[in-house]
Formats: sequence, structure tokens, C-alpha cells
Amino acid sequence: MSLAGREIVVGVSGGIAAYKAAALTSLLVQRGAGVTAVLTSAARRFVGTATFAALTGRPVASRTFDPTAYPLGAHIELAARAEIVVVAPATADFLAKAAHGSADDLLSTLALCAECPVLVAPAMNAAMWSKPAVQRNVRQVEADGLGIVAPGTGWLSCRQQGAGRMAEPDEIVAAIESVLAAAPRRP
Ligand SMILES: Cc1cc2nc3c(=O)[nH]c(=O)nc-3n(C[C@H](O)[C@H](O)[C@H](O)COP(=O)(O)O)c2cc1C
Repeated sequence: MSLAGREIVVGVSGGIAAYKAAALTSLLVQRGAGVTAVLTSAARRFVGTATFAALTGRPVASRTFDPTAYPLGAHIELAARAEIVVVAPATADFLAKAAHGSADDLLSTLALCAECPVLVAPAMNAAMWSKPAVQRNVRQVEADGLGIVAPGTGWLSCRQQGAGRMAEPDEIVAAIESVLAAAPRRP
């Protein structure tokens, strides 16, 4: 499916699977989407903003307060133009914030501000993923209307096999396409 002209925010939180967010971003751009990457401060410890700026052809947004680039607030301006917000990877920390309506950085504030569909692709160590608190937060965000692209089971960077491996980029693209196919285009 072509994503020509569709506006997508790719939110990247600070998990090792952040490197796969670059592949996801590239796939979306290749399908014609306009993509803005929003990286948390932890995500920037894993992947470089230069990669996402080059892949998207746009500046990367990371700061809540950036009055020169976003006088109305980046969370407001990016949410207003996004047709979908995709958080991949979504850390345990991001899920906890989303479940509680916390807005202490740009990505969590933007997710709260978005009126378009929000998809999250959790990724974490199997022990973290199995914790009741994490599962409770996933159920809560799903009940609140966010879409979940469930993690799979397989090799984890902590050198174990288990559940918590982020869905592959092409699977996340398919989920985005399916949501956007049902969503009216922004005028
Ligand atoms: C090497 C390393 C790998 C990590 N991988 C993950 C991960 O896959 N999933 C996760 O939820 N947290 C992971 N963390 C912990 C997060 O980086 C940490 O909770 C951070 O505060 C998340 O911030 P953010 O949600 O604002 O991006 C990892 C930390 C380190 C040092």
C-alpha cells in the first residue's frame, strides 16, 4: 500500500530495539509518507539523531521546549499534523507514562496530545515484559484506545530467548497501513 502524503510521527523510546526504528522509518519514507522522528533522551543514547534526520529529511524533535522551531510547542504542532503516532520501541517506562497520562517529556506529552490513532510496539527484556505492572499498563493503554503491535518471542539482546522482542519493522508497517486505510486523510 502507498502511504503517499500520509503524515506519521515515529516515536522512539530508549530500548535496544531503537536501532530497528531506523529501518521502520526508512520503510515508511520509501512508501511516500512524511515522517517526523521524536526521540526520547534515552533513545538518543542508543541511536543518533543524524540517522533519523537523514532518513526523514526533517529535523528530529526531542525537546519539549523549543520555541524557535516550535513556537506553539512541539507536542501541539506535531500532534496537529500527525495522522498516526507510532511508538517503536515502546519501553516499559513509556508504557507506564502512557497508562497514567504522565507527560514529562516530548514523546509522552505528544502521545497524550494526539487526537489521531496511536500505535505502540513494546520491546523489552522477557523478565520486564512478564511483570504484572507492565502487563497492567499494556492492558490499560489498550483499554484507553491505543493500538498494540505485540512483541514476539525470540532472541533478546540480553542473550536470552524469550518474549519481549519488538515486532519486526515490516509487521509494524502493516499495522500502520491497516490503521491508515481506515482513517480519513487530513485535509
Ligand atoms: C543496554 C540497555 C538496554 C535497555 N533496553 C531496554 C528495553 O529494551 N526496553 C525497556 O523498556 N527498557 C530498556 N532499557 C531501560 C531504559 O533505557 C530506561 O528505562 C529509560 O529510562 C527509558 O527511558 P524512555 O522511556 O524515556 O526512553 C535499557 C537500558 C539499557 C542500559
